[in-house]
Amino acid sequence: MTTDVVPVDLGTRSYEVRIGPGLIDRAGVEVMPLLRRKKVAVVTDDTVAPLHLDRLLAAFAASGIAATALTLPSGEATKGWAQLARATEWLLEQKIERRDIVIALGGGVIGDLIGFASAILRRGVRFVQIPTTLLAQVDSSVGGKTGINTPQGKNLVGAFHQPSLVLADIGVLETLAPRDFRAGYGEVVKYGLLGDAAFYDWLEANAADMHHDATKRQYAVRRSVEMKAGIVSRDETEEGERALLNLGHTFCHALEKATGYSDRLLHGEGVAIGCALAFELSQRLGLCSQEAPSRVRAHLRAMGLKVDLADIAGDLPSASDLVALMGQDKKVVDGQLRFILVRGVGEAFVADNVPPALVETVLSEALAARR
Ligand code: GLY
Repeated sequence: MTTDVVPVDLGTRSYEVRIGPGLIDRAGVEVMPLLRRKKVAVVTDDTVAPLHLDRLLAAFAASGIAATALTLPSGEATKGWAQLARATEWLLEQKIERRDIVIALGGGVIGDLIGFASAILRRGVRFVQIPTTLLAQVDSSVGGKTGINTPQGKNLVGAFHQPSLVLADIGVLETLAPRDFRAGYGEVVKYGLLGDAAFYDWLEANAADMHHDATKRQYAVRRSVEMKAGIVSRDETEEGERALLNLGHTFCHALEKATGYSDRLLHGEGVAIGCALAFELSQRLGLCSQEAPSRVRAHLRAMGLKVDLADIAGDLPSASDLVALMGQDKKVVDGQLRFILVRGVGEAFVADNVPPALVETVLSEALAARR
């Protein structure tokens, strides 16, 4: 299989997302043209390191590139001030200079954290994303959103800092646990739902065996990245169109807060439930057909994803408390709830005036269906 190359066009900050099998083993060759001297620093976590770090270091060694590595604890708690300080100081100790390259090897936590560390290190050094989860390959590694969580909320401190290259090795997705692959698929399906009905049709027909079919995986990652690259190049800092990438996310963020960001609900699972609820809400507003929400739910269900609030174990807050949690979302503008709604599959748009009472009704009915 060949490598697909998707350009992210951002003027002088343009870069490529390369997608294909075996890219970690070729990382030295891929990264070499970016280097001013043959030295890189890699940051990863203790889940990814045993699986992929040795291969990556061997690839750099084979190209004569000196590489040092730091392994952080895995998990969302790593994406905070403490590990940001640790990683940044480690990079300084490694004598990473302004013209050097930092490598982020891992999922969204490592990509966001090390992207931010690179943004602030010496007022900005270049970095390369090597995303190792489906979610990171199709979403967080592309587009330059970097940052950390604080006690006040998720991703409230950060910077737009675009990577210089993204190497999405689709071979590493084989090692993901089925639940993590499915959760990442929640973000893949989002692209079809928000803007490409033909891609959604393809996913309905092809996604069932994608986890272990490299050709299908590569196509799904490529099409997702093409869509994200197009949106980011037209609206890098989310003044408009980029908000469409948040389809399902207003519901998702409330549900993630309600479940304490625990493994009761993974982010991609929350996105899937959120997409189903966004279709339901759109249908209640008379924006899309009666059939559209059930079509979406049937596909998510067939993929083994969470679809309903009943799929979340344990207690959930009331509908009005969930709406209140949405009010704390960082996407709230002038106190108005912002939703991404749909006129059908592939036709999403931003809506700022959704009546909170209707959102509460949709959530009340979804909660009642749990009993
Ligand atoms: N994950 C949403 C964005 O990158 O804009």
